[in-house]
Amino acid sequence: MCGIVGYIGNREAYNVLITGLKRLEYRGYDSAGISILNSQSSIYKCKGKVSDLERFVSGNNVSGTIGMGHTRWATHGEPNDVNAHPHKSFHGKFILIHNGIIENYARLKEKLMALGIPFKSETDTEVLVNLIEYVYEKGNSTAEIAVRMALSEVIGAYGLVIACTDEPDKLIAARKGSPLVIGVGSKEYFIASDATPIVEYTKSVIYLNDNDVAIISREGLILKNLQNDNQIPRIHQLDLDIGEIDKGGYKHFMLKEIFEQPRSILDTFRGRVGTELNAVYLGGLYNVTERLVEARRIIIIGCGTSWHAGLVGEYLFEDLARISVEVEYASEFRYRNPIITPDDVVIAISQSGETADTLAAVRLAKEAGALVLGICNVVGSSIPRETDAGVYTHAGPEIGVASTKAFTAQVTVLAMMALLIGRKKNVLSEEQYLSYIKSLTEVPGRIEQILVHDDEFKRIASLYKLANNFLYLGRGYLFPVALEGALKLKEISYIHAEGYPAAEMKHGPIALIDHKMPVVVLATKDSSYEKIVSNIQEVKARNGIVIAVVTEGESVITKMADHVLEIPVIDPIFAPLLAVIPLQLIAYHIATMRGCNVDQPRNLAKSVTVE
Ligand code: AGP
Ligand code: GLU
Repeated sequence: MCGIVGYIGNREAYNVLITGLKRLEYRGYDSAGISILNSQSSIYKCKGKVSDLERFVSGNNVSGTIGMGHTRWATHGEPNDVNAHPHKSFHGKFILIHNGIIENYARLKEKLMALGIPFKSETDTEVLVNLIEYVYEKGNSTAEIAVRMALSEVIGAYGLVIACTDEPDKLIAARKGSPLVIGVGSKEYFIASDATPIVEYTKSVIYLNDNDVAIISREGLILKNLQNDNQIPRIHQLDLDIGEIDKGGYKHFMLKEIFEQPRSILDTFRGRVGTELNAVYLGGLYNVTERLVEARRIIIIGCGTSWHAGLVGEYLFEDLARISVEVEYASEFRYRNPIITPDDVVIAISQSGETADTLAAVRLAKEAGALVLGICNVVGSSIPRETDAGVYTHAGPEIGVASTKAFTAQVTVLAMMALLIGRKKNVLSEEQYLSYIKSLTEVPGRIEQILVHDDEFKRIASLYKLANNFLYLGRGYLFPVALEGALKLKEISYIHAEGYPAAEMKHGPIALIDHKMPVVVLATKDSSYEKIVSNIQEVKARNGIVIAVVTEGESVITKMADHVLEIPVIDPIFAPLLAVIPLQLIAYHIATMRGCNVDQPRNLAKSVTVE
């Protein structure tokens, strides 16, 4: 989720690159760098913002008409100057910027290091640039051939801009899994992660496809695939103007992040699970798997949405790995004088990795000798630095204060952990394990099928945008989703909303039901389906309004609920990943219809670093 900009033509490249990187700031990042491919082909890069990079560069000779720029969102190696892009190969012949994740980087790095090739950074990207130079120096005639051969060995996602000092007036762009757009001007070309940095110069663009390799000089562009087959470049005309593409075409970061979830979940399990792998690999837990297998108890700590993800984790670990789980608000846990022993495993969940209460609870658990793991989204943040091990969610930067894609990425990591441990403990048979893995890999496509119904969610939102109270009900795996749906609504629309276990209705909340009370019921097909149908009847008997999230093909609830939102069939243990999507969008639309500041709701911060 970073920003890439490349330029070759007759303008001063520095201005095009810096302006372009600023246009891509909405994508979020932690460091930035550029290289102007002039006589020195210097690289300037640093942790921080593009404005920090400008200060870092000032006073240097950055004159030149070809270059590349990058804003990084770290996945491998924490945000710092060395890990920032561009990266130069070990003999300095290649310079490269990368968006994406090289899944087999560890094996490739091991192979290259065994050949005596040195590395400076901790990134997966440096493996790529060194592999290209290694292949090039083995006697392959051109940079393009070396790039194609090296990329043929790579598993993962990349959007790349590459330069070779032996072929100074040329850029190579390549794409697999991470978008790359080429702007076509008059004897000049622009390369970028999306159209944002390009549209002010030209509206003629070429969208690279997976496995495409473009060889670009001022005289023209040649398009091939990895197998060296010539491809026909198709030029499209952009119908965007610069004003509307500041957030990638979305009105708010939150909406963009909701729609990114198929990709962020795919990125979170990329290289870690997949039917071709036939297993779950979590490199970050490699040295602690046995302690997890032997754990007497898992204590999950977090705040807000991360605490809700932890509740889903409780069901997953108890179901799939038969390990006892407690889920604690970090703020309560840290002050309660809890009983923690060295046999315990504590899992801290935090998107930001900086939440003060969660960080304090991590420190408390460490002092008590427990094994402390982290599930965080920000590489190099405080919690990952203080835990014994962990698994990063690769959701990319989450800018909107209301957490959406981080929640589904956290649940995805918890599911992978539970599957891994459940199989190692033989709680799961190989057949069950593979079946769950197959279901998990189908989740991104199922979410795509839900997102296309956004207009329906918007219509429902318009009917109830003036309500003063909402109830959200769910059972089992979907009880945490009821809590999460209520939190989404209340934090961005300021409507009072409560989530409850559906069975709890009769112990009090049912007194609240009247004809003005919208009740969102998560009623997908699972073991408690008949019970939730009864809960819906209880609400209707008191004239409540029922908005039911159901499994597609539902027929019983359709006759009793006021509104029915269908989600695709999925294994019930993964239903939270799908059922939360309509709730995120209903909350988003109600908040925008009420004129609320969706991305920065009142009184809230994206990361609560105070107690
Ligand atoms: C959720 O939408 C809120 N932004 C908030 O509850 C958040 O989940 C909580 O502050 C925890 O943040 P963290 O995941 O960064 O630790
Ligand atoms: N995986 C690369 C890194 O961690 C690129 C990340 C990105 O897309 O910014 O440096």
